[in-house]
Amino acid sequence: MSTFPVAITGLGSYLPEQVVTNEDFAQRLDTSDEWIRTRTGIRERHYAAPDEATSDLATAAGRSALKDAGLTADDVDVIIVATTTPDHPVPATAPIVAARLGRTCTAFDLNAACSGFVYGLQVGAGMAAGGSTVLLIGAETLTRYVDPDDRSIAVLFGDGAGAVVLQRDDAATIGPFDLGSDGSELEILWMRAGGSREPFDPIAHAEASSRMSMRGGDVYRHAVTRMTSSSQIVLEAAGITIDDIDLMVGHQANLRILEAVGQRLGLPEDRCHVTVDRHGNTSAASIPLALDDARQQGLLDPGARLLLTAFGGGLTWGSCVLTWSGTVGGGQA
Ligand code: UT7
Repeated sequence: MSTFPVAITGLGSYLPEQVVTNEDFAQRLDTSDEWIRTRTGIRERHYAAPDEATSDLATAAGRSALKDAGLTADDVDVIIVATTTPDHPVPATAPIVAARLGRTCTAFDLNAACSGFVYGLQVGAGMAAGGSTVLLIGAETLTRYVDPDDRSIAVLFGDGAGAVVLQRDDAATIGPFDLGSDGSELEILWMRAGGSREPFDPIAHAEASSRMSMRGGDVYRHAVTRMTSSSQIVLEAAGITIDDIDLMVGHQANLRILEAVGQRLGLPEDRCHVTVDRHGNTSAASIPLALDDARQQGLLDPGARLLLTAFGGGLTWGSCVLTWSGTVGGGQA
């Protein structure tokens, strides 16, 4: 199982300005703040402005992570954007971000849905271990892909981006990782039309097939099972127990999912970081956004041992253990 002599040396995030509260939904849909809060833990989420696309959010988060690391864009060798909501079907969003940063370096997207950041961390850490300075960004504008009038899905998602800089550091460790997928149940969380199986057409675009659809209960059950078992795999591979984990930073889809995973793992509640209440589900952006939030709350001391775990469409899942590096934020020191 993979571990890498790599440190996160910079961390940054970007949340669009507009905040949409549960009450905003309750005013136009058959829903309530009480239903949304008790079923999901979400109170509010951010929405990208009409002129903001995923690359705009990604570039802002990327710049902030580079500044945090004390680096400039010229220091970056590789840009990875983990996203399911690219600016365009073709090309990838990462080259757009690279151009905005003034770079022509290696740049590619990675799509593992809500597990994208953890997948990107293993890919990026592998490249950083080989000597590259990697900017890994999780960025999403999922609110563009949900039917705003479908109460069962519109209330769940938000927009945002988070980024980390990965650099080789022989005193640091990222990993072990566990990444997995099961494509036999893709329809429980998907957008059916718009790809090669069912190409985009303007008539279909007005229909439900070109919006995100989810069988929430099924996804919920799979998420709890997979995030728990995947976490157990990496803890065992690292030769540690849940008692050695200072903070679990899980994919923020639903507070009840995080609580259920924490309970199954035997993690005390105060060691599970929660941002879903303020961010909603931001898919691949949720973990780096939560990391930045945890740091702002003073929860990431150098040497802190973190468990990251995610689950999303695909189905995909992934977990890893990492020790928070003392070198993070060198640029702001
Ligand atoms: O990021 C990738 C991973 N995604 C996830 O992990 C999401 C996983 N799933 C979930 O978080 C939850 O399943 C949901 C939050 C999506 C739904 O919660 P639930 O407790 O599973 O509710 P439900 O889907 O079983 O719906 C219960 C009822 C239904 O009404 P009936 O059929 O019982 O009359 C829904 O129509 O709640 C209704 N409902 C709502 N009511 C008020 C669904 N959405 C809403 C709403 N407001 N916004």
